[in-house]
Amino acid sequence: MFYQVYPRSFADSDGDGVGDLGGIRDKLGYLELLGVDAIWVCPVLRSPMVDGGYDVADPRDIDETFGGLAAMDELIRQAHLRGIRVVMDLVPNHTSDQHPWFTAAMAAAPGGDERARYLFRDGRGPEGAQPPNNWPSIFGGPAWTRVTEPDGTPGQWYLHIFAPEQPDLNWDNPEVAADFERTLRFWLDRGVDGFRLDVAHGMAKPDGLPDMAQVSTTLLVNDDNDPRFNNPRVHEIHRGIRRVLDEYPEAVTIGEVWVDDNVRFGEYVRPDELHMAFNFRLAEAPFAAEPLRAAVENSIAAVTSVGAAPTWTLSNHDIEREVTRYGGGREGLDRARAMILLELALPGAVFLYNGSELGLPNVNDLPEHVLRDPVWERSGHTERGRDGCRVPIPWEGGAPPFGFSPDTEGGGAASWLPIPASWAELTVEAQLEELDSTLSLYRMAIELRGARPEFAGDQIEWYTSPPGALVFGRPGGLVCALNASPEPVALPPGDVLLSSAPRTGALLAPNSAAWVV
Ligand code: GLC
Repeated sequence: MFYQVYPRSFADSDGDGVGDLGGIRDKLGYLELLGVDAIWVCPVLRSPMVDGGYDVADPRDIDETFGGLAAMDELIRQAHLRGIRVVMDLVPNHTSDQHPWFTAAMAAAPGGDERARYLFRDGRGPEGAQPPNNWPSIFGGPAWTRVTEPDGTPGQWYLHIFAPEQPDLNWDNPEVAADFERTLRFWLDRGVDGFRLDVAHGMAKPDGLPDMAQVSTTLLVNDDNDPRFNNPRVHEIHRGIRRVLDEYPEAVTIGEVWVDDNVRFGEYVRPDELHMAFNFRLAEAPFAAEPLRAAVENSIAAVTSVGAAPTWTLSNHDIEREVTRYGGGREGLDRARAMILLELALPGAVFLYNGSELGLPNVNDLPEHVLRDPVWERSGHTERGRDGCRVPIPWEGGAPPFGFSPDTEGGGAASWLPIPASWAELTVEAQLEELDSTLSLYRMAIELRGARPEFAGDQIEWYTSPPGALVFGRPGGLVCALNASPEPVALPPGDVLLSSAPRTGALLAPNSAAWVV
């Protein structure tokens, strides 16, 4: 049971309106109460924060915004005292344009060692004025930016699959792999329990950087034939990372792998590669029986042939929150509550994104001037980007910032994204003692999953179910039923251990799920 912390938005200990490591440390008691085994902390490395920290200027230091290295050491120490493991987020595909390697590359002439750590190329067409290929950036616009050479002339281009401030590294250069190994060891030796690896299906690029057959104009999506990702040579990189991790047998890697095909997905979690990889099928499935069943089946099938554990996630810092995805309002919340029971009934690792346990919706009406996701600018203000799922957590009290930042008698900084006043009823404080709150549902579900023998076994079995519903069982004896139809359906026989909606006799209400033993 992993809990994903988006540190900017979790808890602010120093009152600057931005969450930090001290804030996470102060909330460890809450995380222990929730029952999580580990936290995955999104990047806290030194960064100019163009992409929320996924633009890393020094991978072996903690940004002062988050409290510096001492705050990380303290978080690890205190988390371990509570039996909570700490997974950091590393970004192997690219660096910040403020990384010393990139500033050196910009200051050097073409063709030298400094540029060979990135993907600098001459442009096409007269005077090299056209980008070297037709790749778009995931955040909009071309994936290439032209530089001005040290002598003042228009010069080469460099590749950035994401923002121009995130130049892609050249993993064919052994210096890049060696430096990444240093970073892994640096954090493992400081007591970190593992890593979430950003864009783990990136890194390796096809020889010659050929044009894409079809240039996709949709932002923030991946497809299996996209030459920017999932190049077979990436597996050699993962084997190298695994050789280091194997010297730290307690540590884990989890890759962000946006690959649909089950066989190709499974390749990332072969015994000598990543330990786990995020499977996003469940997050991508609509709330309907058939697609949910297909998502579950495929997620399991993708990893069982290589002997890895499945992973489950309903949302993260890049995806619209599930309450909103499932329709918003009471219906969206009911469905999200049903889905957490489905998810926690499955074998494998579950990743819960901070705020899901409070049933937070996406905030889709943030004022334009506060939007920070580079997608907003890069799309020419046509895509609002991902800020709506990154609004700070409401902890307590009746008005924003709801204890996210310390109370400074009206003088404190506003939270970096404003928290809707309507979240007063969604605060941790408001939900903690309410038995039917979403937070209580999560707490009970996590506790039962960890304690009950019925959850044993790493397989599931599908049972016949009424139309629009799903029923599956675990070998230990747990049965999970979810009703995605508009009518109540019969509950499977047995005792109800937990249900996501108030019980109505032997019926399972629409948009709800139950565990039966
Ligand atoms: C991953 C991260 C996302 C980031 C991107 C570039 O997809 O999850 O937040 O913008 O990589 O690093």
